Amino acid sequence: MFLFFAFKVYHMVAKFSRIIGTGSYLPERILSNKDLQEMVDTNDEWIVERTGIKNRHIVAEGETTGDMAYQASLKAIEMAGIEAKQIDMIIIGTSSPDFFFPATACYVQDRLGIKVSKGAFDMQAACSGFMYAVAMADSLIKTEMAKTILVIGADTLSRIVDYTDRGTCILFGDGAGAAILQASDEAGILGSQIYADGSYTSILNCETRIDSGKIIGHPYLTMDGQSVFKFAVKALSGVAKELADKCGITLDEIDWVVPHQANMRIIESTARSLNASMDKVIVTVDQHGNTSAASIPLALDLAVRDGRIKRGDLVLLEGVGGGFTWGASLIRF
Ligand SMILES: CC(C)(COP(=O)(O)OP(=O)(O)OC[C@H]1O[C@@H](n2cnc3c(N)ncnc32)[C@H](O)[C@@H]1OP(=O)(O)O)[C@@H](O)C(=O)NCCC(=O)NCCS
Repeated sequence: MFLFFAFKVYHMVAKFSRIIGTGSYLPERILSNKDLQEMVDTNDEWIVERTGIKNRHIVAEGETTGDMAYQASLKAIEMAGIEAKQIDMIIIGTSSPDFFFPATACYVQDRLGIKVSKGAFDMQAACSGFMYAVAMADSLIKTEMAKTILVIGADTLSRIVDYTDRGTCILFGDGAGAAILQASDEAGILGSQIYADGSYTSILNCETRIDSGKIIGHPYLTMDGQSVFKFAVKALSGVAKELADKCGITLDEIDWVVPHQANMRIIESTARSLNASMDKVIVTVDQHGNTSAASIPLALDLAVRDGRIKRGDLVLLEGVGGGFTWGASLIRF
């Protein structure tokens, strides 16, 4: 009887996964609106008014998504106060991996000098990559597949941005953000929701392919800005309301909203629809631009390190991106 009880306790499924550390990395080089004025027919006033963006960071020659992900991981590991070898799985949300294969997550695992016992892989959900990776990591921890997962959002969209197209080149920057999720009996991630609708492919994509040594299709990211804008606001406010409902939380209980940093006007419209005042919303889009899958963990790390997000706060992370894909997580931090 005692043995049976002990066996049951030992095999008790962790109730939650918790974020025990965050980290981020931005390349040194800054591309300002003034720089862009020299490259395309645009100006600082137009960019700030329509997007809220002033600067973006761009990778150095030869610097990759994997390099940025590794740097962000070191910071997250340090904050978590764990040894890297305690990590048993690595998931990277990215749409600009270093290679077709191997996965960028395998590169990070090797650079960290660890052997992960539960695997390392990339997830492709464009700008929603980090939300997909968090939802996946949370489920894998709750089902005891893994105990400590390094979850990363990292992208080098400057590689697929056409710097002669003023409609897109003003928006994007490079970067990486990371979080360590660990099994816990204390409240952590309360719930996640992810969605996809491939019928919206035409309004935001990068359809480049390599076939038998030839590059096929348009080699750069293309976008119908206005359609993306409308979809993003609807998706972000919808998923937040649904998730709060599912978790039995009212929107006014949320302490902080950490949205995907696509455009200041998208962030403000979504906040209005959620009845959240802007002083509860973490904003980095002015200094980072849209860093795709990195934008949410970058903003989260900034707000944790500057002391705005504290232990016990209720935090909503949410993102939307090409696919279309979108998703959110509600976290007792
Ligand atoms: C791209 C975006 C900033 C454009 O703003 P907008 O208000 O929709 O502007 P429009 O595309 O209607 O263009 C208005 C005018 O500005 C011009 N314009 C476009 N980019 C410009 C730029 N960088 N500088 C100056 N003028 C510009 C257009 O050519 C157009 O000129 P016209 O009226 O003479 O034809 C906006 O649609 C947006 O941010 N959409 C969401 C994009 C996004 O977040 N994508 C990633 C999602 S994960």
